[in-house]
Amino acid sequence: MNSSSSRFILERYSKFLPITDQTPLLTLGEGGTPLVRSRTLENEIDAAAVYFKLELSNPTGSFKDRGMIMAVAKAYENGAKAVLCASTGNTSASASAYAAKFGLESYVIVPSGFIAMGKLAQAIVYGAKIVSIDGSFDDSLKIAISLVEKNNVTLVNSVNPNRIDGQKTGAFEIVDELQDAPDILCIPVGNAGNITAYWKGFNEYKDAKKIKNLPMMWGFQAAGAAPIVIDKKVDNPSTIATAIRIGNPASWDSAKIARDDSNGLIESVTDEEIIFAYQKIAKEEGIFAEPACAAPIAGLLKKKKEGYNFKDKKIVCIVTGSGLKDPDTALSIQSNKIDAIADPGEIAKILNWNY
Ligand code: F0G
Repeated sequence: MNSSSSRFILERYSKFLPITDQTPLLTLGEGGTPLVRSRTLENEIDAAAVYFKLELSNPTGSFKDRGMIMAVAKAYENGAKAVLCASTGNTSASASAYAAKFGLESYVIVPSGFIAMGKLAQAIVYGAKIVSIDGSFDDSLKIAISLVEKNNVTLVNSVNPNRIDGQKTGAFEIVDELQDAPDILCIPVGNAGNITAYWKGFNEYKDAKKIKNLPMMWGFQAAGAAPIVIDKKVDNPSTIATAIRIGNPASWDSAKIARDDSNGLIESVTDEEIIFAYQKIAKEEGIFAEPACAAPIAGLLKKKKEGYNFKDKKIVCIVTGSGLKDPDTALSIQSNKIDAIADPGEIAKILNWNY
């Protein structure tokens, strides 16, 4: 496969990435994720088009894999023996998978009690050493940063610029497929690395003359964890969307630049709005995403309700992670519990069918 036709990002976008002759080009199949058109949402908000970029199709089920392949490849190239991250779950799953692929050790620090079960299971099975702390993600990241200074490990949170470089390839793929930039890029915001990465990607494609116009960056935070929206750190962030339960984002400044320079916005949506959108895209679009991914969908519905005119707007929503990672949330909102019965007549009665 030659580099331009490869779906694997390190090969396909090598020109835009910090790759040298020494960078190992291993892959778990990250990138090349589907861009699918909406069936109902686009009509409902009366937009020119709405697409979902299904980042849940990455090898560990989240967008983190794009950044992690780059960060771990560079860590390996620079002689690291181990990687470390703080995480709300997905970063730890991704870091430990890529560490395994490259033969490195992985260490993760997570906030106790606030990691979705599937993500924790991934880190355990990939062989990470997990430290669970009595504190938030923000505390975990502070500890991780203080530990790398005195130990021979590479920090692979999005404060590592290689993570941002890997993740910006999501923007490249969207443009390559649509042959243009969207008008609005809609994305959940937690530690704010991904909005920073997409903005960087679109700008690099503009500099390379692949697009003329940049999209408006629309970020959405959960109302109980919306420091950028209220312009103030949140000491005790709280939301059902544990992936974005963050009160002091590391890439706060660059997220503001993406918002302001793109004439965009960063707003918040409530947990109720998140759960509504989470169920809606599952039932109407066939997309089982994790709750954080529903924030931008909820945001679009909210902006429509406020009267925003989407008529000529082509929109891309980044669906950042898989719903399978968080079965507890999925089951907690199910109202019709399934009873164990075997009689076909009784089953037909429950379903309101003939027998
Ligand atoms: N969506 C999902 C599914 C996430 O896991 C995250 C972040 C975000 C959105 C927000 O992205 O932080 O770049 O603004 N998860 C991190 C983690 C914090 O540790 O897995 P961001």
